[in-house]
Amino acid sequence: MNDAKQLIKAAKEFLIQAYTEMELPGLEERIVQVQEEIRESGTYLHLPHELEHGARMAWRNSNRCIGRLFWKSLVVRDHRMASNPDEVTRALYEHLRLATNDGKIIPMITIFAPEQPDGNVPIRIWNKHLIRYACYTEKDGSLTGDPAQKEFTQYCLQIGWKGSGNAFDLLPVVVQCKNDQPQWYLLTQEWIKEVELEHPEHGWFKTLNLRWHALPLISDMVLEIGGIRYPAAPFNGWYMVTEIGSRNLGDETRYNMLPVIAKKMGLPTDKADPFWKDKALVVLNEAVYHSFKKNGVTLTDHHSASDQFMKFMRNEAQCQRNVTGDWSWLVPPMSGSSMEVFHKEYDNRILSPNFFYNTTDVLAGSINH
Ligand code: ARG
Repeated sequence: MNDAKQLIKAAKEFLIQAYTEMELPGLEERIVQVQEEIRESGTYLHLPHELEHGARMAWRNSNRCIGRLFWKSLVVRDHRMASNPDEVTRALYEHLRLATNDGKIIPMITIFAPEQPDGNVPIRIWNKHLIRYACYTEKDGSLTGDPAQKEFTQYCLQIGWKGSGNAFDLLPVVVQCKNDQPQWYLLTQEWIKEVELEHPEHGWFKTLNLRWHALPLISDMVLEIGGIRYPAAPFNGWYMVTEIGSRNLGDETRYNMLPVIAKKMGLPTDKADPFWKDKALVVLNEAVYHSFKKNGVTLTDHHSASDQFMKFMRNEAQCQRNVTGDWSWLVPPMSGSSMEVFHKEYDNRILSPNFFYNTTDVLAGSINH
């Protein structure tokens, strides 16, 4: 099958499903129109309502996401016309402000120009997450900041950005249009919200000077709808507490805070107490949960998220749709078996529309996805 034929097939499948779900008239005419458009130009333009529903379907089909109950509420911003880094960045800043919504977080996606029929990518955002903290290597070889950002931080420094060197230093946004030089833009407090962490009972927690940003915003995945690929389509939901408490701040390869917290709690960090990590994890997650709530920032706990996912499965069954899922990602990284998601099996087939990993990387593969 040649490219046009393949694209027509993918477009048709998407249009049939989307128009049926939306109960929209005019499917037959639209299919004919899209076929002609593809034959003439090698591609086709999604109409705004197709783009909107397609992006929502992509969230619904994201096997690794536990938060899919809310797929219909995704706010879709169409910025396919943005053609230079300044315009793209302005739309990104706006996304940050609108989605943060002073703490009452709104799930949102901003969609930029699609990949062209010849494979050219008009716009790329080089950050994996739009909001992340830099990582610095100290003279003694130790790391300050988020080790997951080590290579990207080096890259940003190379292209002229200057960091402050502290543990929660916001990285810039890096945007590339066509094959031009990537441009970097400062991310300042003006556009984002951060939460300083404290614990409801342990006064010492505050002295650790930990913080995290309010918005989880993935910016390097390719949105695919009906055979059209959108390589720049950053999207956000709200955080589940364990993403920050267990993983970002807890992982040994990230901020590695468990030994520090256990010490403050007076726990022996050796075989004398095999539960010291578990106890420290609970305190760290409690602090994240308490601080986000106190600051009026939307955040879900892992037990509620599991319940919501079960509701999502019931809703989908009612619509005669199968839920696909990836068990190893769906089960939260703490107290797994106490939640219903743990006790189910999932079909890990990949449906379309969906979000895919980018196969090219600004650092030529030196960051793992
Ligand atoms: N785990 C990622 C982070 O720490 C975010 C992934 C998406 N999470 C979400 N709640 N939408 O930033």
